[in-house]
Amino acid sequence: MARTYDLLLPRFLLPRRFAVRRQILDRLHARAVEAARGGLLLDVPSGTAVFTAPLLPQAGLRAYVGVDLALPMLQRAERRLRMRPLLLVRGDLLALPLAESAADVALCSLGLQFIPDRGLALQALRRALRPGGLCLGAAPALGLFDGYDRRHSTRPNPDFPLAADTFASELAEAGFRDVVISKEGALILWEAVAAPRADGR
Ligand SMILES: C[S@@+](CC[C@H](N)C(=O)[O-])C[C@H]1O[C@@H](n2cnc3c(N)ncnc32)[C@H](O)[C@@H]1O
Repeated sequence: MARTYDLLLPRFLLPRRFAVRRQILDRLHARAVEAARGGLLLDVPSGTAVFTAPLLPQAGLRAYVGVDLALPMLQRAERRLRMRPLLLVRGDLLALPLAESAADVALCSLGLQFIPDRGLALQALRRALRPGGLCLGAAPALGLFDGYDRRHSTRPNPDFPLAADTFASELAEAGFRDVVISKEGALILWEAVAAPRADGR
C-alpha cells in the first residue's frame, strides 16, 4: 500500500485526480521545512514522508514529528527518513500525541479531506502550535476541477473536501489569523498563523 502510494502519487493522484503538478507539493513542503528551521515540525498526516524526506537532512530542525493512522505508511517513512531526532507516531490527527503549543510549524498535506469534522481537525492543529506558529497545508475542494467533482459525486464513500468559499473563515474560527489561500487544480493550499489564545497560550 505504501509503495503503491509513492508510485501513484506523482503519476496519477496529483495530475489526474487533482490536476496539480508534483512541484506544487514540493514547494509547499519546502516552505514548511524552511519555516520550521531550528524548531519542531509536526507533519500530519505524514504518510510515507515522500515530500519531506529529501528536505530534512539539511533542514536544521530541532525535531520532526510525523503522525499517521497507517502503520505501513509510517514504516516506509521510517526507512527513508535520515534525520534525528525523529519521532514517527501511529495516531490520529484529532488526538495528536503532542503537548499543547509544542510545534513551531504544523504541516497538513492531503489529509484534511479524510476528516468529517474539519473544525475539530483545525482546532487540533491550532492546539499543537505555539502562538505565532505556522500552519500550512493542501487539500481538495469542490468546485475547482470538474474531474475531482465528478469522481466525488459518483464514489460510494466520498471524502470530505474543503469548501473553497468558507475555508478561510473556518481557519479564523479555529484560532488562526493572517490566512493566505491559493488554488491549484482541485487543491486549496493555505498558510495561517496561530493566534494567541485568550489564556495567553
Ligand atoms: C494522501 S496521504 C498524504 C500523506 C502525506 N501528507 C503526503 O502529502 O504525501 C493521506 C494519509 O492520511 C492518513 N490519515 C487519514 N486519516 C487520518 C487521521 N484521522 N489521522 C492521521 N492520519 C490520517 C492516511 O493513513 C494516509 O497516510
